[in-house]
Amino acid sequence: MANRTDWALVESQLAALLEGTDVWVSVLANASAHLMESLDDLNWVGFYLTGRVLGQRVGEDELALGPFQGRVACERIASGRGVCGNALAQDETIRVDDVHKFAGHIACDSASRAEIVVPLHVGGHVVGVLDVDSPHLERFDAADQAGLEACVRIIERFLPQDHDPAVGLWSVLTTNPQRDRGQN
Ligand code: SME
Repeated sequence: MANRTDWALVESQLAALLEGTDVWVSVLANASAHLMESLDDLNWVGFYLTGRVLGQRVGEDELALGPFQGRVACERIASGRGVCGNALAQDETIRVDDVHKFAGHIACDSASRAEIVVPLHVGGHVVGVLDVDSPHLERFDAADQAGLEACVRIIERFLPQDHDPAVGLWSVLTTNPQRDRGQN
C-alpha cells in the first residue's frame, strides 16, 4: 500500500504536542489521539504497559491496557501471547500484513486486519508497547514502521525515569526531564 503519511510532520507535531505535557498518562493519551488523527485507515491505537511501570499488581512480563483510541480492548496480555506479547518478549517491532495469518493473534476488534506493535523503553528496559491496528490488509509498510518507531523514541523522552519496584516506575507524575532539570 502506498505510504500516505507525512512522517516528518507527524513526528514534529508529536514533539511539539508533548513539550507542554508533564503527566505520563497525558503523554500517552495525547500521543494515541495524535496518531489516530494523523494516520488514515486505523481502528485502534494505544499502549499496553508492564508492571515495571504500573506497579506490582501487573507482572513485569505482563501487559495491561493503557491509554488508547478505539473500541474497548482486552485488559491483560501475557508476554509471548498475541502480537503485543510477542513484541514485548522479543523486544522488537512486529509488523503484520494479515492478522488472520499470525498464529495466536488476539482479536480485540474483529475489524482489525493489519497490525504493527512497537516496543516502548525507559532506562534501557522494555516497559510496554505501542499497538496500532487497521481494518485494511497490508496497511503498514517499512516507512510506517520507521515513522512509528521514531514517534515512540519521541514519546520515551517524556516518560518518567524513576523506578520504585513496589509502586511502579511511573507512580510519579512528572515526565518532562528538561523541566525537571530546570527545577533542580
Ligand atoms: N491484537 C493484539 C491485541 C490487542 S488489540 O489489537 C487492541 C494482539 O494480538 O496482541
